[in-house]
Amino acid sequence: MKNIVILISGRGSNMEAIVRACASQSWPARIAAVLSNRPDAPGLRFAASQGIPVGVVDHTQYSDRASFDAALAKAIDAHVPDLVVLAGFMRILTPEFVERYAGRMMNIHPSLLPSFPGLHTHRQALDAGVKVHGASVHFVTAALDHGPIVVQAAIEVTPEDTPQSLAERLLPCEHQIYPRAVRWFVEDRLRVHDGAVHVDPPEPQLLIGLSASTTEGDAA
Ligand code: GRF
Repeated sequence: MKNIVILISGRGSNMEAIVRACASQSWPARIAAVLSNRPDAPGLRFAASQGIPVGVVDHTQYSDRASFDAALAKAIDAHVPDLVVLAGFMRILTPEFVERYAGRMMNIHPSLLPSFPGLHTHRQALDAGVKVHGASVHFVTAALDHGPIVVQAAIEVTPEDTPQSLAERLLPCEHQIYPRAVRWFVEDRLRVHDGAVHVDPPEPQLLIGLSASTTEGDAA
């Protein structure tokens, strides 16, 4: 039975998708805790309602990143995690923290990495004029939004799209790929070779989301 600790900062819809998949698919794992850096993160209420231990390590109470990360690591380690899942956790982590959980910490980023790391990814995608956009689940390394990619979801970008419409269409895809990636980890099926992640035995590591419009001819 593997212990999963999930870190959130806000809504927590990806966390919720993982919690529900863990229960409904009977993973060999349990959600040991959900921790937030924000006391008012709405996702904490859902986690508590499921009987999951919740905790807050409020970053505003720490004078620097290193002391916050040390307190966060202490809170995480109290739950003896096999995997740390960053699910909308909006803090930049120190290299020491990342090293502590090397190979056992995942993140979801709303772009097709390595394109568009950082914030405002949907705006970045529109400004670049890309025709395909998406989300990536990756192992966390010291470089921001970087690291071996476990699974990606892709959606079509149309001239009508806005950052909000892209976010809305992408979120259901995120809710499919993040639980999938975490399940593979707890099933011991992920192998990393030369920076590439393989699933053993293989399963699709790319989800093609719905296109924005119905193609001509479909209605005929
Ligand atoms: C998601 O879009 C995720 O990709 C990004 O922040 C958002 C978090 O949403 N990192 P939620 O808190 O999981 O609902």
